[in-house]
Amino acid sequence: MTLRESVLLALKEKNGEWLSGEALSTSLNVSRSMVWKYIKQLQTEGYKVESSSRKGYRLVACPDILSGDEVCYGLNTEVLGRRDYFYYPRIDSTNKQARVLASQGYPEGTVVVADMQTEGRGRRGRSWYSPAGQGIYMSLILRPHIPLKEISRISLMTAVALAETLQEELELPARIKWPNDILINNRKVAGILSEAITDMDGIEYIVIGIGININNPENDFPNDFRTDPTSILAEKKQPAARIKLMQSLLAKLEHHYFMLQNGDFGQALATGKSLSMVIGQVVSLETSKGLVTGRAVDIDDNGFLLVDDGSGVIHTVISGEIDVLPGE
Ligand code: BTN
Repeated sequence: MTLRESVLLALKEKNGEWLSGEALSTSLNVSRSMVWKYIKQLQTEGYKVESSSRKGYRLVACPDILSGDEVCYGLNTEVLGRRDYFYYPRIDSTNKQARVLASQGYPEGTVVVADMQTEGRGRRGRSWYSPAGQGIYMSLILRPHIPLKEISRISLMTAVALAETLQEELELPARIKWPNDILINNRKVAGILSEAITDMDGIEYIVIGIGININNPENDFPNDFRTDPTSILAEKKQPAARIKLMQSLLAKLEHHYFMLQNGDFGQALATGKSLSMVIGQVVSLETSKGLVTGRAVDIDDNGFLLVDDGSGVIHTVISGEIDVLPGE
């Protein structure tokens, strides 16, 4: 831990109470002027630290930045974000970076997060709008021990964790548009981009990229004629704290991931079905085997969508771009 981190940690552990400069310099074994230097540094970073010649220092507020100092402090996980946590004020794409790190051997649970992305990537070659300070743009390295045919479970589990987090933390009516979109009132608030590297033995690693529109002003999105975007600010009419949301999301993801690794996908599947906005709807999907149109009737145990085309054939769709058609 660096000295700056130690000063910050000591202040945080006082929970807003005063900490004397002398106690701080003694416990860290540095001079009082050195302590002051780090206090000033923290203040320039956006930490509100009050100082008093009599009482010392106290931390009044932390900036809403997704650095390890903030997200890992108070994070309730065992593996996710626990060992390797990379924060970038600016990066091309966190998924791209996570793939580089995964190929270098970084372990399961490694988190890559950015304040802004210059080349944020969406599914099907689209881009993901990633302006500074407004969203969560994060990627997670997982190394699941599951058969390759179950890999779509990870995407569904992620969508469930994301929707549940938005519901529980912010009381938002988040729904899942199979397979990877999270919608509020029919507008897209978050998306998931999973990229897996597989080999003869199965899954080597999977990078789960999650983008959430949080504090974007309404109508401040580039034109995308496919999806109607929204943000938490637009839906709730008030900004949300990114740190708390990311902590809750990581904890929720870990819960579902541990269950899945233990062979128990039942709970995530049941929740995924109940939160799905496509089951029961007439849909049209562009799949690798061509266009499938029919009623989405279920999601199976692998996370695949079952579509009844009305001629007695049920299509098992692994992945695809879904359009919900005006139903009867
Ligand atoms: C989609 O809905 O098309 C998926 C969007 C995924 C965006 C996230 S933001 C963090 C991570 N890094 C990327 O470049 N993309 C994903």
